[in-house]
Amino acid sequence: MLPQGRPSVQGRGPGKPFCYHPVSMGECLAVVNQKGGVGKTTTAVNLAVALAWAGRRVLLVDADPQGNATTALGQEKPSDGGTAAVLLGLRPAAEAGVPAGAEGMTLWSGHARLREVERDLIQAADGRTRLGDRLREASWDVCVIDCPPSLGILTESALRAADGVLVPLQAEFLAMEGLAQVSETLSRIRRDLNPSLVLRGILMTMVDPSLSMAAEIEREVRVHFGEAVLAASIPRDPLLAEAPSHGLSILEFAPESRGAYAYLQLARELLRAPKPSPAPVGA
Ligand SMILES: Nc1ncnc2c1ncn2[C@@H]1O[C@H](COP(=O)(O)OP(=O)(O)O)[C@@H](O)[C@H]1O
Ligand SMILES: [Mg+2]
Repeated sequence: MLPQGRPSVQGRGPGKPFCYHPVSMGECLAVVNQKGGVGKTTTAVNLAVALAWAGRRVLLVDADPQGNATTALGQEKPSDGGTAAVLLGLRPAAEAGVPAGAEGMTLWSGHARLREVERDLIQAADGRTRLGDRLREASWDVCVIDCPPSLGILTESALRAADGVLVPLQAEFLAMEGLAQVSETLSRIRRDLNPSLVLRGILMTMVDPSLSMAAEIEREVRVHFGEAVLAASIPRDPLLAEAPSHGLSILEFAPESRGAYAYLQLARELLRAPKPSPAPVGA
């Protein structure tokens, strides 16, 4: 059963429903920013659910040893399941997921064991390509990877496996500094490991229109990064912070909220936009 009162990801107004751009099928998106607390997990979880609502078979990969995305969806963190088990070769990719978040959505749960995985990936010859190899063995239309707040081997593996990267940027002072570091990492990954990686977009998060500084920062980011900044932005909404404590996405917890609307808009924009061609980030 679909939740009652659920807002639509389809276009409004008369005429045909919104037509999604098929280029997004088979796309793997890594949600990356080395800074913690900028909205990566909130974005990965709610975007994944919004994409599932749009009819995609979504695989959400919790690649953070903290396993916040897993907790946010009210799921267990078994030590012999999920992302760590896949990467340690304990489980085949096709059997590592659990249904979570929405119909048509699968989660590879996170676990502290991902720290063990980090050590293994650094030493193994196939370390940097293993995540991509395992993802190819699973079945999904869109894959969303929630990365840890660092640019270590797990994030690097995600960037190696992904087609696109989504960078949540908190609308606050010094936000740009973190972005410079992400830009450098993306350029390096593209040069050395994954030339086809594209910046799918910079997503402004926790935008608080009542703060004049936030509006100024958003303007500054948009001037600096131009079209790389997504039109959709995520408002500061206490319901987005509350939903995980109920083990629910914002779309289920508060479908009429500003936060839910914003994530539906994000999904819609990503599904609509043709995949951008690789270009230097921030250029
Ligand atoms: N738009 C938002 N409005 C209000 N709170 C938010 C918003 N986005 C995230 N949060 C809260 O901010 C904290 C950090 O967000 P999170 O998504 O966990 O960041 P990250 O994964 O980058 O560390 C969490 O408590 C989360 O619930
Ligand atoms: Mg997180």
